[in-house]
Amino acid sequence: MKTLIVYASKHGCAKKAAEKLSEAFGEGTEVNDIRSIAKNDIADFDRIIIGGSIHAGRIQKDVKKFIQKNLAQLLEKQIGLYICCMEEGESADKEFTNAFPKQLIEHAVAKGFFGGEFNFENMNFIERFIVKKIAKVTESVSNVKENNIIDFINTMKK
Ligand SMILES: Cc1cc2nc3c(=O)[nH]c(=O)nc-3n(C[C@H](O)[C@H](O)[C@H](O)COP(=O)(O)O)c2cc1C
Repeated sequence: MKTLIVYASKHGCAKKAAEKLSEAFGEGTEVNDIRSIAKNDIADFDRIIIGGSIHAGRIQKDVKKFIQKNLAQLLEKQIGLYICCMEEGESADKEFTNAFPKQLIEHAVAKGFFGGEFNFENMNFIERFIVKKIAKVTESVSNVKENNIIDFINTMKK
């Protein structure tokens, strides 16, 4: 089964998750930044995983655009969707629901909540300020949920 993993990532967390997933799906798997995938490029793949991260409550616009452009084709493939975010529980659920169209969520085989990280080295001044002020975090911290990544892989492979 040919697998394509496309991601949008601001500070590297969703990218690292995409790379982890690609190791699990092995040969025939491609990983791409979502901005570099043209409309027709997805035709060859049977399984497509789409991931992004949440900033100020929203997933990247590029994720929305990619899905909007390719929705009809995506609904014919095996789909996995994931987000990286620091919220948990109901708040993370809401962020996930807002990130992807209902139709695609219902069609998806696996839905991934991979946690997230605050990576101060990759943030600009304003982002650092926001994180310190709102999340009350002053240094880099990781809350990546490795088990959720493993569960996601197993569900996709079933
Ligand atoms: C400026 C800023 C705003 C954020 N806003 C949210 C948010 O609204 N909800 C949330 O769950 N996480 C939020 N986060 C946490 C990110 O989702 C988390 O850092 C994630 O790992 C980023 O993934 P990326 O490195 O792939 O961009 C925010 C992080 C930053 C730096």
